[in-house]
Amino acid sequence: MKETVLVIGGTGAQGVPVVKSLATDSKYNVHVLTRSASSKEAKYLASLPSVSILEGNTYDETTLRQAFKDITCVFVNTNGFAIGEKAEIYWGIRLYELAREFQVKHFVYAGLEYGSKLGNFNHKYRCGHLDGKGKVVDFISAQPTSPMAWSVLTSCMYMEALTEFLRPFPDPTDPDILIFAAPLGEGKCPLIYLEDYGAYARWIFDNPARSNGLVLHVATEDIRWEDLASAFSQVTGQKAVYKDVSLEEYFKLGILDPDAIVGHSTDQDDSTLLTYRENFSGFWNTWKDNLTKRDYQLLDTILPTRVKSVKEWMEKTGYSGKYTSLLKDRRDKARK
Ligand SMILES: NC(=O)c1ccc[n+]([C@@H]2O[C@H](COP(=O)([O-])OP(=O)(O)OC[C@H]3O[C@@H](n4cnc5c(N)ncnc54)[C@H](OP(=O)(O)O)[C@@H]3O)[C@@H](O)[C@H]2O)c1
Repeated sequence: MKETVLVIGGTGAQGVPVVKSLATDSKYNVHVLTRSASSKEAKYLASLPSVSILEGNTYDETTLRQAFKDITCVFVNTNGFAIGEKAEIYWGIRLYELAREFQVKHFVYAGLEYGSKLGNFNHKYRCGHLDGKGKVVDFISAQPTSPMAWSVLTSCMYMEALTEFLRPFPDPTDPDILIFAAPLGEGKCPLIYLEDYGAYARWIFDNPARSNGLVLHVATEDIRWEDLASAFSQVTGQKAVYKDVSLEEYFKLGILDPDAIVGHSTDQDDSTLLTYRENFSGFWNTWKDNLTKRDYQLLDTILPTRVKSVKEWMEKTGYSGKYTSLLKDRRDKARK
């Protein structure tokens, strides 16, 4: 029987490669839940074979009960930046429960690292968008692997963020030099090439006997930012340096609004929500102190064709350090 996969978050930077990988042949029917079938992303996905678009709000029980009818598998990427940590925990668990109720065969959750727990709950690692998903991963990991299989695909920053949130800027004193600034010290930070991320998701659905009960931590490479700048120079011939900045300096760079609330679509007065300053302090500290780990040998076995380094990705994609839009959320905000 052909499996039907419901994809939550399918129109996003992370979801599009997942949907694409599931639609490369006719093995799966794919249902993508989105708030608008007329967005550029939804229209593109609708043009792929075996993909249909369902219109509705993910964070709504009635919509979900409708969406869960006649499906056999689910891929869930909730959006913590839209709904905040508290709701992300609620909906992650609720989606698991609904999947069980609707007798789904395989539940796949897009996880993130539980930075606080990895850092012994030291406040310096507190990051709502990591911890929220991390708590859901702990809940899922405590569930049996039968009658419903579960898998977690735990990721990290997207490699493609190097064109947006992580892109270099010209040195004000010498515009021929590009600066990659980050509060990372000597930390080795993992980055994941999104097309490979989609391929890992496809592998999970294709191989339930191996992926059931697995929390798969994926990345392309763990890289020191100094090595990233040097890879960039080798590939492009352009001089680039890494600037290790303090968190205070980082929040002055204008990359994000440090006083904005993480959870743009929720009650801004909810006192559990973190500011970007609070959230991203924990975020960068988690990577700076190398709290997380991946098994690259396992990743090579699962995806022998994977891109294996940042340098290889730069060469493959013709990376130039220039801006290109990555996150749908940011595009939607800019349009408003
Ligand atoms: N940025 C990174 O490097 C990175 C890395 C790993 C994980 N993540 C996680 O990925 C999640 C975000 O997904 P993404 O990276 O694919 O982001 P994105 O490109 O900005 O896409 C946002 C997605 O969230 C959906 N969404 C549903 N309700 C929403 C609402 N009320 N407001 C805004 N969007 C809503 C959107 O669907 P419609 O607009 O179609 O309804 C869309 O699919 C976050 O939880 C983040 O922590 C991010």
